Amino acid sequence: MTLWVGTSWKMTKTLAEARTWATGLRDHLDGWAPEGVQPFVIPSFTATTTVREVLGEDSPVLLGVQNAHWEDAGAWTGEVSVAQAADAGAQIVESGHSERREHFGETVETTRLKVAAALRHGLTPLLCIGESLEVKDAGGSADFILEQAAGALEGLDVEQLAQVVIAYEPIWAIGEHGRPATVAELVEPFAALGEAYTERVAGLLYGGSVNLDNAADLLGIDHVTGLFVGRTAWELPGYLELLRIAEAHAAA
Ligand code: PGA
Repeated sequence: MTLWVGTSWKMTKTLAEARTWATGLRDHLDGWAPEGVQPFVIPSFTATTTVREVLGEDSPVLLGVQNAHWEDAGAWTGEVSVAQAADAGAQIVESGHSERREHFGETVETTRLKVAAALRHGLTPLLCIGESLEVKDAGGSADFILEQAAGALEGLDVEQLAQVVIAYEPIWAIGEHGRPATVAELVEPFAALGEAYTERVAGLLYGGSVNLDNAADLLGIDHVTGLFVGRTAWELPGYLELLRIAEAHAAA
């Protein structure tokens, strides 16, 4: 089993900062390949080619984009297509992050189109799902996220589904205003996701306030096969430490 450990930089980092982070990672991985771990990084669009150039074509680190349009080209002002993302060196296409659902009108239907477009171009879809605090408090977490996932993955055959990575990121646990989820709170949602998707998808990741203190415990939850991280990984030492934690977990 491979543990996926990746970061989205969201809307942060200049090109110089992106270059510094990626150069540091490349240099560290020159002498150390974390065994059993699949690293990935998802910069802003502007830094895609910079990070690709720094990492090199054969890097063990997969490169992604935080969003991409499902059409290959056309009159979609402000959008970037999966085809263009692939051309810039991306291998992963994220969709469905709660910030995009909340602020940019991402829906179950658009995540479905984006997952399909990623697969059509041979990229890995990284589908984010997660419920609000209201849904959680009403006891509906598992049903809600299963519905989000099923809607986005509708119509995929077994081989296509096997390319998909799912990241469960409860909205109430994400970002500065989120609070870290406890292991106890995550057992049930991951049991539900595990029953539906373990061994059928490429990964079932957890995301939302992952930090150096909770990472090992989060990886210990049944069915969790990776971490999708924001703030803790934005400084390279934090990301490297998460890779070390995952490597230790994979070896245990
Ligand atoms: P965070 O972000 O780790 O900073 O909470 C997680 C995410 O949005 O994926």
